[in-house]
Amino acid sequence: MALCISKFVIFSLLFTSTILDSASSRTFARSLFPQELGLNKEKLSHLHFYLHDVVSERNPTAVLVAEAKTTNTSATGFGAIVVIDDPLTEGPEASSKIVGRAQGLYSSASLNEAGLLMVQNYVFTEGKYNGSTLSVLGRNAVFSSMREMPIVGGSRLFRFARGYAQARTHTVNPHTGDAVVEYNVYVFHY
Ligand SMILES: *[C@@H]1O[C@H](CO)[C@@H](O)[C@H](O)[C@H]1NC(C)=O
Ligand SMILES: *[C@@H]1O[C@H](CO)[C@@H](O)[C@H](O)[C@H]1NC(C)=O
Repeated sequence: MALCISKFVIFSLLFTSTILDSASSRTFARSLFPQELGLNKEKLSHLHFYLHDVVSERNPTAVLVAEAKTTNTSATGFGAIVVIDDPLTEGPEASSKIVGRAQGLYSSASLNEAGLLMVQNYVFTEGKYNGSTLSVLGRNAVFSSMREMPIVGGSRLFRFARGYAQARTHTVNPHTGDAVVEYNVYVFHY
């Protein structure tokens, strides 16, 4: 009985894959013109928003998820990994309109000065940008007045995106560590 079933299963798998093969194109890769994907004119956009990194309170948007044994004796917190889902707003006030969120993580990756590895997606919810994302991968020297991080890609409206994000600390609460950071993002996309 078991043998019959396994024979049937093997037969079914072979049969199904034969059908799938003939139904789909077997071309692995081909060249195409950008217009075939509706990519006509490259645009340059400037986005401006404020990021709210809330580490305190009952509902933090940034949480420490891992650290090394030596992290709490390191002047730079080397080895700490923080996962974030920080709101992005039009203005600097916490009550300002939300235009998206910064989701991802940052990690202290510098032994001798404050330097974070940023790996984040900006997930926009505003107007025509709703559902489009930009991906950031870069170094954030948090105590510099102006930090610059590469935009390495994007989705939907931001397909083929490349550019840079400039970050400037707007306010830091010295008691809680909560921070508001102003962002100017310049990005080429289609
Ligand atoms: C660092 O963390 C370890 C383990 O979590 C703890 O035993 C130690 O007391 C901490 N050291 C300091 C300086 O906070
Ligand atoms: C964004 O898109 C989602 C899913 O399509 C929708 O539920 C939501 O209402 C939209 N938000 C705005 C602000 O348009």
